[in-house]
Amino acid sequence: MKSKHLLSIKDLSIADINNILTKAEKFLDKKNKKKNSFSDKNIINLFFEDSTRTLTSFELAGKQLGASVINMSIATSSIKKGETLIDTAMTLNAMDPDILIVRHNMSGVPYLLSEKVNCSVINAGDGSNEHPTQALLDALTIKRHKKNIAGLEVAILGDVLHSRVARSNIYLLNKLGAKVRIISPPTLLPPKIEDLGVKVFKNLEEGLKNVDIVMVLRMQKERMSGTFVPSEKEFFKFWGLDRKKLNNAKKNALVMHPGPINRGIEIDSDVADDIGRSLILEQVKLGVAIRMALIEQLIK
Ligand code: NCD
Repeated sequence: MKSKHLLSIKDLSIADINNILTKAEKFLDKKNKKKNSFSDKNIINLFFEDSTRTLTSFELAGKQLGASVINMSIATSSIKKGETLIDTAMTLNAMDPDILIVRHNMSGVPYLLSEKVNCSVINAGDGSNEHPTQALLDALTIKRHKKNIAGLEVAILGDVLHSRVARSNIYLLNKLGAKVRIISPPTLLPPKIEDLGVKVFKNLEEGLKNVDIVMVLRMQKERMSGTFVPSEKEFFKFWGLDRKKLNNAKKNALVMHPGPINRGIEIDSDVADDIGRSLILEQVKLGVAIRMALIEQLIK
């Protein structure tokens, strides 16, 4: 990798991406799981936003590699006493960590911090900008089911406007040669999204035609000021993925969602829990392997 940080998918070459995916597949093999070669390494998780999957999997990934992992508790930190973001980062930097893993509700914070610290910085999700490790684990999940990502028709469905997962996936899937389309109500569609190399569909049934993968996004209520949809019930009726709507996609189309899912808003339980079609829990599982591969790549 050219950079010692992972801030955006845009910074990765196709070779970098394939390298991380191959490494992650090796970690899935039990024999390669426990490694203690990183016992002299320190990783700090600095999460200013809630997280279940990403935080836990980064912690597990670091520990599986033998590193010491510290989860900073923001609620009990000096940030509550008025310390600035940069002072907090510089303080942590003075303790000489090898990696700082940052999640923040403002776009650009991991970039800002990467300029102030000596260690590697991983973007674990910044506002509605990017979530590169989610896109990497999504690519690994797709690869394990469809072999070739190039040529696949992938639909990203729902609240694209507020989604960092959507943006990172658009960059990554385009790099790997998939054809990406966005299906979203006009109020949740970012302006000029076509410029990122995607096709836009404002009708769900039409948008799902001939699709291999449907990536459903969570409605990001915490990033909305005001109302973007008339009601959750109405959103589900027109834009929520249920069995009937999924039938418009290819017969063997698979369903993904970064989690946490809002049942009955963007996805029906019947689809989310269908182990023949839904890859949601597999995405979580593969997240640990991807993060192990990335950590190893950045600090070996
Ligand atoms: C996503 C996030 O936080 O961006 N979740 C995750 O990391 N798995 C998506 C979301 O919150 O909707």
